Amino acid sequence: MGKLDGKIAVVTGGSAGMGLAAARLFVEEGARVVITGRDRAALDAAAAAIGRNVEAIGSDMSRLGDIEALKARIAEQYGRVDILFANAGTARPGPFEQVSEDEFDFGVDTNLKGTFFTVQKLVALMPAGGSVVLNTSIQGSKGWPGFTVYAATKAAIRSLARTLTAELAPRGIRVSAVAPGLIDTDLIRKVGLSDDAIEEINAQAHRQIPLARSGSAEEVAKAVLFLASADAAYIAGVELTVDGGWTQI
Ligand SMILES: NC(=O)c1ccc[n+]([C@@H]2O[C@H](COP(=O)([O-])OP(=O)(O)OC[C@H]3O[C@@H](n4cnc5c(N)ncnc54)[C@H](OP(=O)(O)O)[C@@H]3O)[C@@H](O)[C@H]2O)c1
Repeated sequence: MGKLDGKIAVVTGGSAGMGLAAARLFVEEGARVVITGRDRAALDAAAAAIGRNVEAIGSDMSRLGDIEALKARIAEQYGRVDILFANAGTARPGPFEQVSEDEFDFGVDTNLKGTFFTVQKLVALMPAGGSVVLNTSIQGSKGWPGFTVYAATKAAIRSLARTLTAELAPRGIRVSAVAPGLIDTDLIRKVGLSDDAIEEINAQAHRQIPLARSGSAEEVAKAVLFLASADAAYIAGVELTVDGGWTQI
């Protein structure tokens, strides 16, 4: 028997990284999973890798119309959402003084506005007993140069987990957040850093992280499964840090 038998789960940004790892684990635990993303080829490859009980829907979470279309499709096909992992997010680091209005809007529209409206639209389909897990970051409570917009959106998403807990608990819906540390996904390779720069960032971080390494997408997925499942039935509003102890010492 799986931890998510019979559940309908939605994972935004399920075509790569932590979203893909969580979607795969949810299916292994008995759920039927909808994954989203913008790149059709990546979505198809992810669905093929998961192999069963998965539907891949193209949807850009920075666009409200796309989120509404996603909701309509899920309502028609499945009638409900039991679990939502609002995971999709993006980072475009750069010096504070050079952040343009477009870059600001890109980060806020994807991470904060996208998460906000994804949850708003999809909880309309969520029955009592449902759970929402938001993907924040340890950057929401740290201050690293070059990440002003990203870190601010992640702090805002952490705040959403608190307010939505208060608002949705009376409907029997639990909301929580997972805060990954340095996780080995393609995200860092998409922001335009050279391989040497990435290696240097990793080496520097590994010297500070008690467990002395990056985490894997699968390790984060296990924490998300815990928060999403009945194992966390008495847990709400928390941000569970998965960072090898980096921010705890
Ligand atoms: N990697 C880390 O070290 C780390 C640390 C802390 C927090 N996080 C957070 O963890 C989450 C997942 O990151 P990851 O490292 O797994 O990244 P990833 O491997 O780059 O995967 C990101 C996923 O989100 C999707 N996505 C991006 N923008 C989207 C949009 N506008 N609409 C819909 N889907 C979108 C991507 O697909 P498309 O590009 O095809 O849309 C992809 O499926 C993000 O919220 C990130 O901020 C990452």
